[in-house]
Amino acid sequence: MKTIYDLELSGKRVLVRADFNVPMDDGGNITDDIRIRMVLPTLQHILEQGGLPVICSHMGRPKGQRVEAFSLRPVAEHLAALIGKKVHFATDCIGEEAEKVVAAMATGELVLLENLRYYNEETANDPDFSKKLARHAEVYINDAFACSHRAHASVVGVAELVKDKGAGMLLQTEMDYFHKSMDNPVRPLVALVGGAKVSSKIGALENMLGKVDSMVIGGAMANTFLKSMGVEVGASKVEDDLLDTARNFIAAAEKQGVKLYLPVDFVAADSFSPHAVTKNVTYKDIPENWMALDIGPATTILFQEALADARTIVWNGPMGAFEMDAFARGTMAICQAVASSHALSITGGGDSNAAVKKSGESRNISYMSTGGGAFLHLMEGKELPGVIALGD
Ligand code: 3PG
Repeated sequence: MKTIYDLELSGKRVLVRADFNVPMDDGGNITDDIRIRMVLPTLQHILEQGGLPVICSHMGRPKGQRVEAFSLRPVAEHLAALIGKKVHFATDCIGEEAEKVVAAMATGELVLLENLRYYNEETANDPDFSKKLARHAEVYINDAFACSHRAHASVVGVAELVKDKGAGMLLQTEMDYFHKSMDNPVRPLVALVGGAKVSSKIGALENMLGKVDSMVIGGAMANTFLKSMGVEVGASKVEDDLLDTARNFIAAAEKQGVKLYLPVDFVAADSFSPHAVTKNVTYKDIPENWMALDIGPATTILFQEALADARTIVWNGPMGAFEMDAFARGTMAICQAVASSHALSITGGGDSNAAVKKSGESRNISYMSTGGGAFLHLMEGKELPGVIALGD
């Protein structure tokens, strides 16, 4: 796969696929701009080489409609402030209007095109739409790791139409960290997996089982594993249709000699509310009608021990309902354990990254991926269509 450094950019229109799908509040203010900041080195490099960056991205899921709340205009303004250059905003991503804005840009300036998903053709990887987008591209750069698991027109269709193409610096960095941690890890390699559902992570769990030395499972998904072992988990969230899957997974871990850590105690609550009555209980003592919403103090120590000797940690998913302070302690302690370990630590997914940010430990994590679905896709052992489309 070529990277941006292998390509001649001077005087060329460079179509950059970025993932500027950033969270916004009701007033249209960007509440987390990390995905924009992480693309700045690629954009700066193009400008330094005398190239003309034409950036495209999606925002949200407007399903082919022009929904103002999903406009990228606020991102154009924010990008201009961050990069200190003129950023022209095109109110369409294809067609005359967009082409006019691109044609008028001067060296040293950038263009951001309006939301690709105002067209259903984007998500359908429509060949005509790809052709129209490709008109902006003498060179194509994919720097949108977080949506490279989507075989969409701007990620795959355009890449197949443009000869001079490669990975931007963010995509390259993400792939490098992932390969370092999963394909050639310094051992012991520990996977730390949490979050609500076994169903959304089972592919990743099964693939990781063949790679890791130990696996730590927390969050609501741990309830399904415990129930599969005959533990009464009260009113905790459980996926009953996955009890057999969970049981088989535990057996497979044992067979493969992978140490599996599950919670041994919890912070249980009488309701899913920040004002709930709570108490610490062992896994055997979750009262009927109560739910486990965080790992307890004994589990925290157990998990800290599991992480203490790790040399590589891959983390996806929180240990509890950390968005409520009453149930954040376990996840915060695990953030600190990962941050203070001597391991190469990689986190991915919106919730784990939000938890790390809340803990104030961001700078002590080796790498926080910008990907959610894309990160999970790699954990499942699958290749990213956006990377495949860039060629060998
Ligand atoms: C993400 O936020 O994970 C990416 O931007 C992909 O978004 P999508 O799940 O709507 O395709």
